[in-house]
Amino acid sequence: MPRVTIIGAGRVGSTLAQRLLEQYNVDVVLLDIAPDLPRAIALDLMQARALGGHDRQIIGTNDYWDTAGSDVIVIAAGLPRKPGMTREDLISVNARIVIDATRQALARSPEAALLVITNPLDVMTYLAWRASGLPPHRVMGMAGVLDTARFRHFIAEALAVSWHDVSALVIGTHGDTMVPLPRYATVHGIPLTELLEEEAIAEIVHRTQFGGAELVQLFRNGSAYQAPAAAAAQMVACLLGQRRQLLPASVPLQGAYGVEDLCIGVPIYLGAQGVEQVVELDLTKPERDAFERSVTALQEAIKTASYLVD
Ligand code: APR
Repeated sequence: MPRVTIIGAGRVGSTLAQRLLEQYNVDVVLLDIAPDLPRAIALDLMQARALGGHDRQIIGTNDYWDTAGSDVIVIAAGLPRKPGMTREDLISVNARIVIDATRQALARSPEAALLVITNPLDVMTYLAWRASGLPPHRVMGMAGVLDTARFRHFIAEALAVSWHDVSALVIGTHGDTMVPLPRYATVHGIPLTELLEEEAIAEIVHRTQFGGAELVQLFRNGSAYQAPAAAAAQMVACLLGQRRQLLPASVPLQGAYGVEDLCIGVPIYLGAQGVEQVVELDLTKPERDAFERSVTALQEAIKTASYLVD
């Protein structure tokens, strides 16, 4: 049975554990630094098994040795945002957590693929990649799938149609400079630009860019976790070979899009091998400029933290 370790048994980690167990037929190890918490969640989920129709195992632990032999390591440990904070405000505290978790987990599962959820996402993915020693195709950050889900939701809502009809794409960083691409959005094959006025599209783009902040405001003490967990579960299913998808993710770039030594959201083919291919889009000048603003913002954020893995 495939084995997935989730580091961080908070709201995102525990929701992801539940999704993986119930939908994707995998065993889960849930690790957290907090005493008893992962054991409590695992016990609760094991008891729910008798009501949920699956027979998978979940272990809750504080000990990295229990994670040995995992196929996928997911990092969801760290602090979430509070109202008024940007994702970048979390850099220094979360960087130390992510680097330590990566090193400890990979030492016990050297063949695993690594999926990062902790924010600021692209910076944490980059640091985790550097700390892991893994080849670039085995490391990725979950954000594009989530941002795209938000974009699709807002489009579906504006047109009062089912999300089933809506296909869309968001690239760039998982921050205020993210790049939703209306030119690549369609509703049952019809370009979004033929269905909505420019102003309405701009509103949807803006709400997507600040979709996370809107929820931080509403939650008051924490950030989104249902959609992030659902997005991560989808990516784990790809890594376990249950499906192969073309989706956006933050991955180490080594020349694609003219970017070197940086993790940022781009479309990729994700499958059992990991990042099987980066898809290079033929961006227009404004799209390219927006993507480059995203790259610049990220380079600055990475500068403040990369000494931690050097
Ligand atoms: N090792 C393991 N677990 C840790 C460590 C560590 N060094 N440090 C913190 N944790 C755990 C906390 O004990 C907590 O249980 O990480 C968990 C984080 O859970 P929450 O506070 O509920 O945060 P959550 O909403 O799950 O978000 C986690 O994902 O989406 C991002 O921005 C979000 O960076 C945040 C992360």
